[in-house]
Amino acid sequence: ARLVVLVSGSGTNLQALLDACEDPAFGAQVVAVGADRFDIEGLARAERLGIPTFVKQVSQHDSRDAWDLALRRAVAGFEPDLVVLAGFMKLVSADFLKAFEHRVVNTHPALSPSFPGVRGPADALEYGVKVTGCTLFVVDPGVDTGQIIAQSVVDVLDDDTVETLHERIKIAERAMLVDSVGRMVREGWSVEGRRVRIG
Ligand code: GRF
Repeated sequence: ARLVVLVSGSGTNLQALLDACEDPAFGAQVVAVGADRFDIEGLARAERLGIPTFVKQVSQHDSRDAWDLALRRAVAGFEPDLVVLAGFMKLVSADFLKAFEHRVVNTHPALSPSFPGVRGPADALEYGVKVTGCTLFVVDPGVDTGQIIAQSVVDVLDDDTVETLHERIKIAERAMLVDSVGRMVREGWSVEGRRVRIG
């Protein structure tokens, strides 16, 4: 299966997928990595392996819609079976999602539906929950509201900071992503209402 991965930052989730894809039995290859900004470690990780990369910056386009269309065309050019948003910090449009229906997935560092948005770990810590975690979901036009594919639970420790908590969540996130994407590409998946079934 062909994966296109979109990143905005350090790309440790991308790296976990790249490592997994080294084993042919995993059933997928990362055919391209896209970003919304230049000079990020996520792109460098792909470049080091000779994987094609592309950058579409909102500021390079006349409108948000024009950016979204350019991103969609770049992604479509690589004919992905699955588009993985791995720390991609932009929302894509409903048209983008329609072009890859039920094939765009994202990871979120909280247990949906709690703590959506970019402050997942901080909001969980502030609220005082004792467990949080991460969620892999099929992207819909909302913010972290799509159908849940997988979740993994992480304990909140008494002395956690946002950084220590997020780092532990990211360990769980990488394992969840590799496990679920692997099963999806090998066994297929379907979406019925809010339920996602693998296999
Ligand atoms: C992940 O926790 C992702 O869910 C969040 O940002 C982090 C990205 O990490 N939105 P990385 O770029 O994969 O290292």
